[in-house]
Amino acid sequence: ADASVKGNPDRGGFATNFGFIMAAVGSAVGLGNIWKFPYITGEYGGGAFVLVYLICIAVVGLPLMYAELIIGRRGGSDILGAMRNLAAEGSVLGRILAYLTGGMAVASGFLILSFYAVVAGWALHFLAVSLGLMPDAQLGAEGTFAEVAGSAKLSSLWHTIFMALTMIVVMGGIHGGIEKLCKILMPVLFLMLIALLIYVGYTGGLEESLTFLFKPDFHKLSAAAVLEALGHAFFTLSLGMGAIVTYGSYLKSERHVIRDGIAIAFLDTLIALMAGTVIFAVVFHAGLEAEGGPGLLFKTLPALFIKMPYGAAVSSFFFLLVVFAAWSSAVSLLEVVVAYFVDEWKMKRSIATCVFGGLVWGLGIASACDGSVLDFLDNLTTRYMLPLGGLAIAIFAGWFVSYEDRNSGFAPFGVVGEMLAAAWLFTIRFVSPVLIVIVILSKTGALDS
Ligand code: PHE
Ligand code: NA
Repeated sequence: ADASVKGNPDRGGFATNFGFIMAAVGSAVGLGNIWKFPYITGEYGGGAFVLVYLICIAVVGLPLMYAELIIGRRGGSDILGAMRNLAAEGSVLGRILAYLTGGMAVASGFLILSFYAVVAGWALHFLAVSLGLMPDAQLGAEGTFAEVAGSAKLSSLWHTIFMALTMIVVMGGIHGGIEKLCKILMPVLFLMLIALLIYVGYTGGLEESLTFLFKPDFHKLSAAAVLEALGHAFFTLSLGMGAIVTYGSYLKSERHVIRDGIAIAFLDTLIALMAGTVIFAVVFHAGLEAEGGPGLLFKTLPALFIKMPYGAAVSSFFFLLVVFAAWSSAVSLLEVVVAYFVDEWKMKRSIATCVFGGLVWGLGIASACDGSVLDFLDNLTTRYMLPLGGLAIAIFAGWFVSYEDRNSGFAPFGVVGEMLAAAWLFTIRFVSPVLIVIVILSKTGALDS
C-alpha cells in the first residue's frame, strides 16, 4: 500500500492510467460540449467568445483540475472523506469546510443528474425517431421536439431508460463498470466526430463554420459573455462538485497527475470545438444564423439533417454520439453520490446505486413533467452550486492542505516543478477565488448598478 494516501488502501480503482483518462474525459465530455457550448457560442457571437472561453479553461479550469485530482488522489476517499482526510491536523475550519463542501457536492451530483438524464432522454428519443423506431414521429417535422419535451409520459419513459443505463454501469464499479464503458465509448465518440467532420466537409459550410468559431470579432464581446464563459468552464470540465476528486481517488499513482489534467482539459476542449464545427457547418450551409439558442440541438439540427444526403442515417449517428457523451458523464455524477454512501456510510455499492439512483430517477420525473423544474435545477446548479463548490475547493486546496500533499503532483519535476507549484498556488489562493466571487456576485445581480 501507498503510505502517502490517507484513504482505505483496499478500495479498488482504475486498472490502467489510460482507463482513468478515458473515464475522466468521459465525465467531462457531455451535453456541455455538444448541446451547451455550440449554442452559447452562437448566442455570444463566435470567435471572441471562444477565445475568452479558452482563457477561462487555462486560467481557472486547469488549476482547479489539478486541485481536485490531488485532493482525490491524496485523500483517497469520496469527496467529503478525501477533504476531511487532508484537512491539516487540528484545523477545525478545514474540517468544517470539508463537510460543507462535501455535502454540497453530493447534493449537486444528485440534482444535476436528475435533469441531465431528462435531456439525455430527449437525445434517446431523437435517436429512436431517426432510426424509424417511433411509430408516429417524423424527423424534422416542426413538432418532434415539442412532442417529447411537452409530453410527461414520453420524457419520463426515456428518462427512465437512461437512468437504468447509468445505474447498470455504476453498479459494476470503477474497474468493472465505468472504466470498461469509457475505454470503449470515448475513442468511438472521437472517431464518430471525425466522420461527421468529413461529412460536413463534403456537404458544405465547413469554411464559414471555422471562420465563425476561430476569427474573433471583439465588438461582439460583452461582460455577460465573459461570465458565461467562466461558468461554462466549470460545467464542461466537471469541476466544483467532486467528480474529478472522486475519480482521482481511484488513481493508483500520482506520477502523471499534471499530464493527465492537461490531457483531460485539452480533449474536452477539442471535442467541444469539433462538435461546434460540425453543428455550425450544418446551420450555415442551410443559410441560417448562428443564434439558435438552447433549441439548436433538438429543434434546428434535426430539421436540417433530414434535408441532407443520408439525412436519417446521419441524424441517427449524431444522436447516438450525443447519448454516448451524456452516458459517460451521467455515470460520473452518480458515482460522486454512490462513493459518498459507500465510503462514509459503509453501504454496499449495489444497494447505494439502487437507492440513490432510484431517488435521482424520482426527482427527475419532476423535470420530465415540468420544464420549469428542469430550468430551475439547471440554473441553481450551474450558476451557483458549481461555482461555489469550485470556490470552496480552491480555498481548501490553497490554504488547508499540507505542503507535501498539495505539491505531490509537482514533486517529480524538480526545479521546474517547484516553479509550477508556486504559480499554481498563487492562482488557486488568489486569482481563482477572486474571479469566481465576481461570477457568483454578478449572477445574483449584486453587481448591477
Ligand atoms: N462535464 C459534463 C458536460 O460537459 C457535465 C458534468 C458536470 C458532468 C459536472 C459531471 C459533473 O456535459
Ligand atoms: Na464538457
